[in-house]
Amino acid sequence: MKTRIVAPSMLSADFGNLERDTKMIDRSAAEWVHIDVMDGVFVPNISFGFPVLKAITSATNKFMDVHLMIVEPEKYVERFADAGADLVTFHIEATECVDRCIELLRAKGVKVGVSVKPKTPLSVLEPILDKIDLVLIMSVEPGFGGQSFIEGSTEKVMALRKMIEDRGLDVLIEIDGGVSRHNAHELYEAGCNALVAGSAVFCAPDPEAEIVAILNA
Ligand code: DX5
Ligand code: ZN
Repeated sequence: MKTRIVAPSMLSADFGNLERDTKMIDRSAAEWVHIDVMDGVFVPNISFGFPVLKAITSATNKFMDVHLMIVEPEKYVERFADAGADLVTFHIEATECVDRCIELLRAKGVKVGVSVKPKTPLSVLEPILDKIDLVLIMSVEPGFGGQSFIEGSTEKVMALRKMIEDRGLDVLIEIDGGVSRHNAHELYEAGCNALVAGSAVFCAPDPEAEIVAILNA
């Protein structure tokens, strides 16, 4: 069986109880913590930046999965690595310096992810697929938690899995947006390695049990 990872998105955490919610993830079966950074330009919403990432990092030993929804990520990727990211994912639509972003992150020794929005075709990944560790498929328009999963995203994952296997590469697939215990099984089967879940985890009556339910879907 392929790697199965759940990455709870802190965007849906209670920011007034950030340490409590981070410790909950730390105790849980989730291997990764997903951190959504939004600049109000690439997406129509603003979330948080370095101090919050540092606060979360100091409250857990889990793998820090940082998802940048910011323009010109080349200006900031190194600072996210310094703030505790283990993986930094940037959007291919947000930069004209994709190779530069990859080089800067490699030099920092962190894993490199590239994300595509729902309407961005997988063909844009062809020149860089052998240079990165992960592709993050957006299954909602980036910007907000709690949206519905866009139909067709599962097929996009299957096509990407085929691209990766045809090239004999070892690239992880993560999916983000509208993921819950109800679609987790089909997403793992389609070839996803990591599922991001925000509202499904944090709005559940028992978030730790919900993480297990997604993992074992
Ligand atoms: C949206 C973010 C997501 C968000 C997912 O732009 O990238 O990570 O937190 O939230 P849910 O799981 O509620 O769709
Ligand atoms: Zn995200």
